[in-house]
Amino acid sequence: MSTTDGRLAVVVLVSGSGSNLQALIDAAASPASRFCITGVISNRPGALGLQRAVAAGIPTRVVDHTLFPDRHSFDAALAEAIDGFSPGLVVLAGFMRILTSDFVGRYAGRMLNIHPSLLPEFQGLHTHRRALEAGVREHGASVHFVTDELDGGPVIAQVRVAVKTGDDEASLAGRVLAREHELLPQVVGWFASDRVALRDGRAWLDGKALQEPVECCA
Ligand code: GAR
Repeated sequence: MSTTDGRLAVVVLVSGSGSNLQALIDAAASPASRFCITGVISNRPGALGLQRAVAAGIPTRVVDHTLFPDRHSFDAALAEAIDGFSPGLVVLAGFMRILTSDFVGRYAGRMLNIHPSLLPEFQGLHTHRRALEAGVREHGASVHFVTDELDGGPVIAQVRVAVKTGDDEASLAGRVLAREHELLPQVVGWFASDRVALRDGRAWLDGKALQEPVECCA
């Protein structure tokens, strides 16, 4: 859906610090931005991301997962909160909940996730630690369409970060996160400009099915 000024309405879901949300807020503040953030939702009442949204004048909702007996009832309440903002795109920006298939299907082709690894490497949690343990020389982050497969949907774009001698989890995570802040607004901007789509189970950019993720950000 579009807002009254024609920009794409985006709802962002966060569980924690919300630094990626902040990158989106900052990008949306540019007059050239094709999207605006109409709502921020968190499953954690204390998430710093909620404070960032309030500071930017963006409406917030909390759907606290601990108050629901199962995933289906939580996801139903989450969907109701999202739909209340009538978004054209839902962005999972550090949203740390596994979602049901019904929920994912409802937002098929209009839900993106940012994941801190070069997918398909290191799906799931503790990606930086696992990358260091595996001894990889390159690590990074990916933005992908959300599908039923956890961290397994078609990847649109990635940032690559060299692993340095002496890196620990915190130093590597910090460098990856800084690059996430370039990657996420870039891909959301593409989506808002109708440049990116999910079609036939693949990610498309500018009318072509991607053979591999685009490297961000040229
Ligand atoms: C980011 O590194 C994001 O990629 C990751 O959580 C962090 C949130 O940081 N997401 C996942 O691990 C999802 N599986 P932020 O709250 O400061 O944006």
